[in-house]
Amino acid sequence: MKSIELSRRELMIATGGFAIMSLEWPSLSLSQEPDPLGKDLIFRTTDPRNAEPELAKLVQSWITPVKHFYVRSHAPNPDIDVNQYALTVEGCVRSPLTLTLSDLGRLPRHSVTATLTCAGNRRAEFNQEGKVGGVQWESGAIGNARWSGIALADVLKQAGVLEHAKHVWFEGLDKIQRKDEVIPFGGSIPIEKAMVPGDLPGALLADQMNGQPLTPDHGFPLRTVVPGYIGARSVKWLGKIVVSDKPSPNHYLATAYKIVKQTGAIDWAESGPIYRYPINGAIATPDSNATIPAGQLDVSGYVLPTGRLGTKVQRIQISTDQGATWKAAQTFGQTSEFCWQLWRGRVNVTPQTKALYLRASDTSGGFMPARVPWNAKGYLQNSWYRLPIRVS
Ligand code: MTE
Repeated sequence: MKSIELSRRELMIATGGFAIMSLEWPSLSLSQEPDPLGKDLIFRTTDPRNAEPELAKLVQSWITPVKHFYVRSHAPNPDIDVNQYALTVEGCVRSPLTLTLSDLGRLPRHSVTATLTCAGNRRAEFNQEGKVGGVQWESGAIGNARWSGIALADVLKQAGVLEHAKHVWFEGLDKIQRKDEVIPFGGSIPIEKAMVPGDLPGALLADQMNGQPLTPDHGFPLRTVVPGYIGARSVKWLGKIVVSDKPSPNHYLATAYKIVKQTGAIDWAESGPIYRYPINGAIATPDSNATIPAGQLDVSGYVLPTGRLGTKVQRIQISTDQGATWKAAQTFGQTSEFCWQLWRGRVNVTPQTKALYLRASDTSGGFMPARVPWNAKGYLQNSWYRLPIRVS
């Protein structure tokens, strides 16, 4: 039996309306049916689909298999007829374009391995200080995949970017119900990032993930992948690109995905959109529910260095005494630009050991701090990772 989270609607049906009485979000334990879209994930919500893998499965390989790759969607997967599909490119360009998949197929192909991570990864940890809304992610809203497709820079070159262009907007084909309007998911990136060409492009228009066509969960038939930026900038089910002198007015850039103490108009206006992700990491094994024998303990996990070109993981350390002393962990497996690094270590634990801690630093000066100030949307939680354990 595994615990799954039900959508609000399913919960209302399952509880005959009882859920509405409860201020806490109840989580029901049911035997889990296989996911119809083939995912092996823990569903935080099923409608829309928001799910993350068990951590032990997540770190089994450097490339994350699609079935273990987290899903973060704000609305149901849109139904897209590939025969009707076209990507439009407009705004500050000399020649607006309407590109079918076969038009895109005539441009040079590139493959990039890059880690995608949600800005809300580890959000649930903020609740110890004060409740945060949104999907209650633990530390599995991250994955590393081989993405293939067309460099955004090549498409923009074909459209001919005008001199006053400063931002490139992306718009998805999904339909998100927000209060009394329906909007697509969207956002933008600075033109300097968008125009980086070549084998490590600033942004990729990806049609493949790990050598296979994108699945509906991950943006079929086309999505952006923006290496180094939070996952929200990698827009799935891409329908439109707009080149502009301003950042996107879409809610998910203009308002959401900002670090604010309160969700008032002044706070939103005063803070800028998050683009690049900071260093982060987690301990994936052992399982915090297991009872561990005293003695030597093998520990493993991931660290993702700051999303800045040229940045590498510098130091990964584990503590068994709340950060009083630290022991180095070793990296293993592949290392690549904009990718996570898997690591393992061995520490000594006794019945007095109540938790393991992880901290890490990188060559951009990024480090996981002891504490991250609380923010209302629960973004960028990258403090020392704490794994409670029971030692017999
Ligand atoms: N694109 C669209 N169109 N709709 C979405 O809801 N979610 C974003 C981004 N792109 C989203 C989207 C967020 S917040 C993240 S973290 C990533 O997609 C997640 O990508 P994945 O589901 O492929 O892991």
